[in-house]
Parts: sequence; structure tokens; C-alpha cells
Amino acid sequence: MAKISPSILSSDFSKLGEEIRKIEEGGADFVHLDVMDGIFVPNITFGPPVIKEIRSITDIPFDVHLMIDRPERYIEEFVEAGADIITVHEESTIHLHRTIQNIKNCGKKAGISLNPSTPLENIEYVLEDIDMVLIMTVNPGFGGQSFIPAMERKIKHLRKIIDDRDLAIEIEVDGGIKLDNAKEVTDWGADILVAGSDIFKADNIVERVRLFKEV
Ligand code: DX5
Ligand code: ZN
Repeated sequence: MAKISPSILSSDFSKLGEEIRKIEEGGADFVHLDVMDGIFVPNITFGPPVIKEIRSITDIPFDVHLMIDRPERYIEEFVEAGADIITVHEESTIHLHRTIQNIKNCGKKAGISLNPSTPLENIEYVLEDIDMVLIMTVNPGFGGQSFIPAMERKIKHLRKIIDDRDLAIEIEVDGGIKLDNAKEVTDWGADILVAGSDIFKADNIVERVRLFKEV
């Protein structure tokens, strides 16, 4: 059974508190927070102040996905805002190893995300240092896009690398995840599923999270 990390990107921001309470009731393992800067991705969302506000209403661990240019500039701010896992994009930071160490030195879990076109080879030499790899299965920037089929091979390949080398890394998959494909993606090797639109656009959000948990 995979863990579920609902992305609030598709939630109703005018009642964010209620939305979070619903996923909590459904049994969400994390809250997935998509931070976008309009430079690394063509969309702008929210930053540390919003995360800090939500931190005060829930104890669910915060899975913060930074889609920002040079994230090393803001690690401490996201830690102070209440992040539990901080994921940076391999493509967004020149000194990836140093950025990872910054996160670890703050006592937080570190993840690396890969855009669909970025090969797994790019993170070969930092695998020993991280807690999670986030495989993007759409191009980052927006909710509600379709799963890119070629990512099946990438997920399976990463699963094999982790198992062969006995690494303590979780695989998170983000983009185009629905109840319909959740079982398949878990079978390929995903440990954590991110779902945005399929959860927050559902008529019954609590029930939808529960159904994901039963996959
Ligand atoms: C996309 C974000 C995702 C997004 C997923 O850039 O990283 O977390 O919210 O949305 P869905 O589940 O609708 O594809
Ligand atoms: Zn995300």
C-alpha cells in the first residue's frame, strides 16, 4: 500500500483550512505543498508565510515540493515555516550535493525531483545522501495534466536501482495520478503517490482519500 500525499494546488484556497481537515479525516500521510516561482515553472503559487499558517492547524507531515530557481536561497525559511520533507529539483540548483546537505543539516528529510526529460543518471552520485526521489510524471507547473507514459520505465528503473543497492530512499510519483492508475503506479514501485485534482475536485474529498488509501 502506497502512502498518499494530496497536493493542495487543486484545493479551494478560499477555505484551505477546511480542505486540509478533510484530507486529514481521510487519512492522508502528508500534505503536498507545491511552491512555484514563475521562473523555474510558468506558474506562481505560495511560499513560507502560507505554509506557516497551515502548520498551525494540522500535524500531518509537510511534503514541500520546491519548483523554484536556486532553492538553496530559501531552505532555512521553509524549515522555519514547518516543512518536514524538502524536495528540490535537480534542474534548479547548480550545487545539488551542497543543497541536499543544507537540508539535512537543518534536520529535515531531503528529496530530489526530476523533470520528465531528466535522466536518473543525473542523481547517481547523491543517492546515498537523500531520503526521497520525486519522479515528475507531468511537466511541473500545473495540476490536472495527463500522466506521461514513458515515466513507467523510469519508475521501474529507479525501483531496481534502490532495491539492488539497498538504499533507504522512497519513490514519490507526482502528476496525473488518479484512483484509476494508482494501483498500477504502486506496482511499478512507487512508495508515495501525490494526487491533486483527483482528490480536491472530487465530490467527497474525505472518501476519495480513503479510497486511495485502500489501493
Ligand atoms: C505539478 C505539481 C503537482 C500537481 C499534481 O507541477 O507538482 O503536485 O499538483 O496535480 P495532479 O494530481 O492534478 O496532476
Ligand atoms: Zn508537486
